[in-house]
Amino acid sequence: MSLVDYVIVLAAGEGTRMKSSTPKVLHSIAGRSLLGHVLTAVATLEPSSVRVVVGAGYEAVNNHLSEIAPQVTSVLQERRGGTGHAVQLALAGVGATGTVLIVAGDTPLLSGSTMTQLVEAHTQGGFAATVLTAEHPDPTGYGRIIRSDNGDLSRIVEERDATDVEREIEEINSGVYVFDLAMLHNAIGRLSSQNAQGELYLTDVIEILRKDGGRVVPVLTPDYLEILGINDRTQLAECAALMRDQINDGLMRSGVTMIDPTTTWIDVNVEIGPDATIYPGTALSGATKIASDAVIGPRSTLIDCTVECCATVIESYCKGATIGESASVGPFTYLRPGTILAKSARAGAFVEMKNASLGEGSKVPHLSYVGDATIGEGTNIGAATIFVNYDGVDKHHTRVGDHVRVGSDSMLVAPITIGDGAYTAAGSVITEDVPAGAIGVGRAKQRNVLGWVLRKRPGTKSAEAANASIEKGTSNP
Ligand code: UD1
Ligand code: CA
Repeated sequence: MSLVDYVIVLAAGEGTRMKSSTPKVLHSIAGRSLLGHVLTAVATLEPSSVRVVVGAGYEAVNNHLSEIAPQVTSVLQERRGGTGHAVQLALAGVGATGTVLIVAGDTPLLSGSTMTQLVEAHTQGGFAATVLTAEHPDPTGYGRIIRSDNGDLSRIVEERDATDVEREIEEINSGVYVFDLAMLHNAIGRLSSQNAQGELYLTDVIEILRKDGGRVVPVLTPDYLEILGINDRTQLAECAALMRDQINDGLMRSGVTMIDPTTTWIDVNVEIGPDATIYPGTALSGATKIASDAVIGPRSTLIDCTVECCATVIESYCKGATIGESASVGPFTYLRPGTILAKSARAGAFVEMKNASLGEGSKVPHLSYVGDATIGEGTNIGAATIFVNYDGVDKHHTRVGDHVRVGSDSMLVAPITIGDGAYTAAGSVITEDVPAGAIGVGRAKQRNVLGWVLRKRPGTKSAEAANASIEKGTSNP
């Protein structure tokens, strides 16, 4: 059931203090835009209609809206005329009666439950307007709440229009309101721009409603952190840290071990199973899913990855990879999109993989590049093997069978197939298929030129060592 009929999100401001080419509400924390956080919280109230007032950078904001919330209506405010002006525009086309919730697009920590409580207080009291307020230790910049003797809201005065005495007030306007629509429609046209900023202030509606005979009531939230708005990059980082703590608290309560939650950054949509352990300096983002008993970190970044039960990822960067049950990755491993490690597979130190699958129990333990490949089960890829997948124009695929032993420092020049149980000799450049059970040898035969050092490098330490060895008769192994 809808708690509220309409929601208006104000998001047309320039966000000048961000000093950014990205509109303020499109900056993100925990993998979601500021506007996305507000819309997610608003959606829990199941409003019949949501309108977002856009202005600065509206093309980008509209594109983003069509991706994340195609059902919302965007309302263009071409020039900044103040919050009152923005609401005037948004109200055109909104029903004549019912309730409307108004919030700003830059308060990502505001929760659905706080908004629900505000709407419920409004509806139960039958007020003209209900305003969410908070006591802020540093109220600078916010509108101050002037209460009347009975505790109702008398008016809101903006910082720049306030007297010295009014500026001492610590109770501030959060910028979250619920209005009776009929009364708001009636009042909104009567705003004036006779103020320090020469704008139409939504906050001035309060006094008009009161004079019209309506009751306006402030609802004080105990947690002022929730209503923090973002105006600059410092506040962006502060809110990101607060959200990080919330996310990590929730995960730890659900059974995830975090060695250092202050250096563990997890996006809102990431899922982690119980008894997983996350070591310090780890960032898990996008649609990453970590199953129970997995061990991630330290210092690992996983973007859009799936990690199955009991796998480990140490000191690695992985994007779009699937890491199977009990598989192990790292340290210093780079897994790129399309990497699939089957059960108990291993991508070890200084290994890069892309669009490649490694079968059950197979290993690429050291210093290799595996691009565009399908590798079977129980296979070992020797140290420093390169899957030569690119001929300078096109990418080609390599197939390696089950229980293969690829010798160290092999170049597997794609397209190529190494059959089941085959070997390649270390240092080979393999340009032709190797049949099952064969060994592919693709290297020059070694020859030793006896005495070369003695003739060409006389007097060097090498020559001295060689002479001593020859004299002792230990020169041949
Ligand atoms: C506003 C309130 C202030 C409150 C504070 C809470 C007014 C006059 N003042 O002040 O009492 O304490 O929020 O954070 O409302 N916007 C538009 N169009 C405009 C102007 C603003 O869409 O023409 C949007 C902004 O993008 C922003 C929101 O409205 O999301 C608030 O505007 P802002 O300029 O940040 O108002 P404050 O000065 O912070
Ligand atoms: Ca603001």
